[in-house]
Amino acid sequence: MRETRSFDQDQTPRPPAAAGFFSGVHREIWDDADSLLHTKPKEPQRMSESSSRQIVIFDTTLRDGEQSPGASMNLYEKMEVAQALVELGVDVIEAGFPIASPGDFNAVREIAKTVRGSVICGLARCRPEDIDRAWEAVKYAEQPRIHVFLATSAIHREHKLKMDKAEIVQRAVEGVKRAVDYCPDVEFSPEDAVRTEIDFLCQVVEAAIDVGATTVNIPDTVGYATPAHMRRVIEILRNRVPNIDRAVISVHCHNDLGMAVANSLAAVEAGAGQVECTVNGIGERAGNCSLEEIVMALKTRNDFYHAHTRVVSQRIVPTSRLVATVTGIQVQRNKAIVGQNAFAHEAGIHQDGMLKERTTYEIMRPEDVGLTMSDLVLGKHSGRAALADRAKALGYRLTGEQLNLVFDEFKELADKKKEIYDGDIAALIEQQIHGVSELWSLESYQVTSGTGKVPEVTLSVRRGSEVLSTHKVCGDGPVDAVFLAIEELTGISVVCRDFRVHSVTVGKDAQGEVMVQLEYQGELYRGHGVSTDSIEASAKAFLNAINRIASVGNGSQQPSKIR
Ligand code: KIV
Ligand code: ZN
Repeated sequence: MRETRSFDQDQTPRPPAAAGFFSGVHREIWDDADSLLHTKPKEPQRMSESSSRQIVIFDTTLRDGEQSPGASMNLYEKMEVAQALVELGVDVIEAGFPIASPGDFNAVREIAKTVRGSVICGLARCRPEDIDRAWEAVKYAEQPRIHVFLATSAIHREHKLKMDKAEIVQRAVEGVKRAVDYCPDVEFSPEDAVRTEIDFLCQVVEAAIDVGATTVNIPDTVGYATPAHMRRVIEILRNRVPNIDRAVISVHCHNDLGMAVANSLAAVEAGAGQVECTVNGIGERAGNCSLEEIVMALKTRNDFYHAHTRVVSQRIVPTSRLVATVTGIQVQRNKAIVGQNAFAHEAGIHQDGMLKERTTYEIMRPEDVGLTMSDLVLGKHSGRAALADRAKALGYRLTGEQLNLVFDEFKELADKKKEIYDGDIAALIEQQIHGVSELWSLESYQVTSGTGKVPEVTLSVRRGSEVLSTHKVCGDGPVDAVFLAIEELTGISVVCRDFRVHSVTVGKDAQGEVMVQLEYQGELYRGHGVSTDSIEASAKAFLNAINRIASVGNGSQQPSKIR
């Protein structure tokens, strides 16, 4: 990408090469770590506010994030997330791994064709067929990027690739060259870089830049690094790779030891110019560096890092909500920046301090991350304009048609529930805008159950103009009975792998949000439903997942692991 070349890295003059650091076989990497940590560190660059560097934010929610167990998204959901990422202001969107499946290929291609405003990147192994496929998918983008990777650590070379160092260098060079022939913006990642002998890492990075890599990414694939370690790896690359100024140094940290954000910040401190991250920190195993945390750390501590991003911080919470809804992976209450408790003050002393002066206990303002702090907002007399206004304040941009649908649901809810909170509105909107096309919808249900009694259910679903009904005495409880009735009416028989219910807001009349995961013919499908009646919410969530199954059957969606 032409732009990334101009994102200036720390250009501090380099001291002579630190010979022998991290050299030798894998065991010696760690024996040498002590001397590494005691090498005189390069002075962190001190710059004035006006010389704050721009850090490229490379979002991999749609690629590495999607690899989280249970997080797969369908095409429509990926397109929505990609659009939200553009609005969030990320510089690069890694949209997928095109060779992985036809679904992945289509998603990357559709995003490349339609999403404008960010670089669109596709991942490829250092194999001709991967690189060709990645280019086929990203070539439609306004600014395409090909990201090639090849493992370099001794463990991966010996056990996974069965290749020696010379073969690795050759394969990396061939891969980068092939990608460069297609595209001027090429990123190279030596997978498991952090566990790679430092001499060899420098050699591979130099070779990749030599043949045209414009970004060199340093992945901590297994989340093994510590901040001091990561800082030194980046410093050594900057000191020893002669052509390093021709590429942006990137960092890609996994969170296995809970240090992905800290390690990424350490890399920035040492001069990295790009950070790879995911919304809500989702990703393989314990996840990736969290986008919201790294962005807000750089923003809040600009005094220290003298670095900033292009991210529109007010879009953080809406984007986090969107990703949580489409992946079904909710963020924990105490998650930094986007968790429910992130700006809640419980202790009396803290509340007292806050009332006297907000900054006593708050280092960021909730509104800066897009969190509106109003509580009770609307009631049954509120009109469409008030709802539209509230939706906008919550970060949603609804079309006229979406607003009408949400308004109908809102009126229905207001009849059942006097006080409508922001959480209620967000749940209604998300149900509308992230739903799948509804082949079947719930018309009505009635269920009776009790201790020692087999439940009795009467349930109707609508399919177009047709209403299908059943009456059954079955199941382990009311929810099970409702699910069995829906299976009978739709003719789709599934195994329920996960069922979760939580309350959207507070109070006995709060809406319940149900998430289900259903297995059908070896694939997992997600469903989501909201209602003040938790059995109705369960029925809606179950039907939502059934509709996803049906839409795949219709060929309207591409297969992937979890829909
Ligand atoms: O964690 C990793 O090493 C990766 C690479 C493909 C960059 O995700
Ligand atoms: Zn990764």
